[in-house]
Amino acid sequence: MVRHFLKDDDISAAEQAQILALASELKAAPYSHRPYEGPQTVALIFDKTSTRTRVSFSVGVSDLGGVPMVIDTGTSQMGKKESVADTARVLDRQVAAIVWRTYAHSGLEEMAANSSVPVVNSLSDDYHPCQILADLQTIQEHKGSLKGLKFAYVGDANNNMANSYLIGMALAGMHVAVAGPSQYLPNAAIVARAQEIAAEQGGSVLVTTDAVAAVSQADAIATDTWISMGQESEKEQRVKDFAGFGVDSELMSHAKSDAIFLHCLPAYRGYEVSAEVIDGPQSVIWDEAENRRHAQKALLVWLAAQK
Ligand code: CP
Ligand code: NVA
Repeated sequence: MVRHFLKDDDISAAEQAQILALASELKAAPYSHRPYEGPQTVALIFDKTSTRTRVSFSVGVSDLGGVPMVIDTGTSQMGKKESVADTARVLDRQVAAIVWRTYAHSGLEEMAANSSVPVVNSLSDDYHPCQILADLQTIQEHKGSLKGLKFAYVGDANNNMANSYLIGMALAGMHVAVAGPSQYLPNAAIVARAQEIAAEQGGSVLVTTDAVAAVSQADAIATDTWISMGQESEKEQRVKDFAGFGVDSELMSHAKSDAIFLHCLPAYRGYEVSAEVIDGPQSVIWDEAENRRHAQKALLVWLAAQK
């Protein structure tokens, strides 16, 4: 049966570990797996802007012996003149996989329901699971393991990154703490799912409005923009609402002294993170950005092998 990757728990904990092991193998030997030899084509569809996702998937598909086909939906029929289901039926007869960055998560579900080839979420309003695989690979590289570590996220706790961190880090057996202003906390269903996974994997979940409590004794700290794609008109209000939730050196001082700092990027220095932290010695953001390529290649290799 074809497998899709739309959200972090579309794979099991064991499958996540298997993909991460493959990611480190592919980092050491980038051209060792060639599932798209032919070459087969992979559709990379973008409804929103991107630098890292576009580059890492394009390079990654080439590394795997395939041809990346970038489709900016502004220049295609999709979404305007043609339904998602009909688009899926056209694409799946010609491409090996469909990778899509979009707004409503339901679009990805519709694409997957109508596609005979794997559909991968490269960011929706609700999840960014490919980023989480790269972040897990980065933490594993710097800390040696994942299980039992404390991961803290501070900022917009109601966005795609917060949701994916809650689910993805719990799946890896980590203790996940998420902090944001009271009106920007994750919805109850996400928290309940993360708690269920954490109970199975030996981790825990903390959701709080207290940023210091979240980062206290953490091994890894992350944040993300306060204004996600599609929320640009709310900028003025959000900048006010998130005051006090920026990651700076003072906040970092409550984490373990060897804690690492992550950010999916793009970053807005002086807002969600200070320049001192993101450009400082604890920051691992460039490893994290590079690991998008390796982690996503591992995911694509793994998906291609599921029949
Ligand atoms: N982190 C991330 O997905 O970056 P892009 O928006 O540049 O793809
Ligand atoms: N939360 C951000 C992530 C960007 C990679 C957004 O959706 O814009």
